[in-house]
Amino acid sequence: MRWTIPAALAATLSAGVALAQPLSPTPRDVEGPYYPDILPADSDNDLTVIRGKQSAARGRRIRLEGRVVDRAARPLSGVRIELWQTDAGGRYIHSGDPLRAERDPAFQGFGAALTDEQGRYAFRTVVPAGYASRPPHFHLRLLRGERALLVTQLYLPRRSGERGIGPGRLSLREAAQTVRLEPAAADALVGHFDFVLDRSAE
Ligand SMILES: [Fe+2]
Repeated sequence: MRWTIPAALAATLSAGVALAQPLSPTPRDVEGPYYPDILPADSDNDLTVIRGKQSAARGRRIRLEGRVVDRAARPLSGVRIELWQTDAGGRYIHSGDPLRAERDPAFQGFGAALTDEQGRYAFRTVVPAGYASRPPHFHLRLLRGERALLVTQLYLPRRSGERGIGPGRLSLREAAQTVRLEPAAADALVGHFDFVLDRSAE
């Protein structure tokens, strides 16, 4: 099910920025072993609903949105962003995920979005569960055509009060990969993150 960026947000995001210093590129991070071995038939930017299914995914909703820009804050359009993550119970859709818990059959597990002319992207998904020693996180891959520009992971703030987001300190690198949460409706979160790509990555 396709989901679009609200108009008010779009206006906010399109505001210009004058820069004294180049922005720091978003850190790279390991891809991990659970990029889907079989991509789902529905791989749009709403991971909470699978086309053709009546039920919706379990778990707390989060809108993950922002922009992709270069180090001078210029928007990068036409960048494909792939997102994969666990469901609310901690399961990936990868067939090799060793966790025994039942996978949420209504959760898409993987989705993709294309940045618009302002560099904007948006996903609707659920708050991922942490697993083993890892805090809850999103896996992302940014591509231009077939070429990967960036592979990284994003974290949720540890003190957001959400279930499953444990205490502890983020490393400096993790802090540079942390989603900024904004007020939203009682049953949902909004997470904001701007990706910064070095032009040499293009
Ligand atoms: Fe992971």
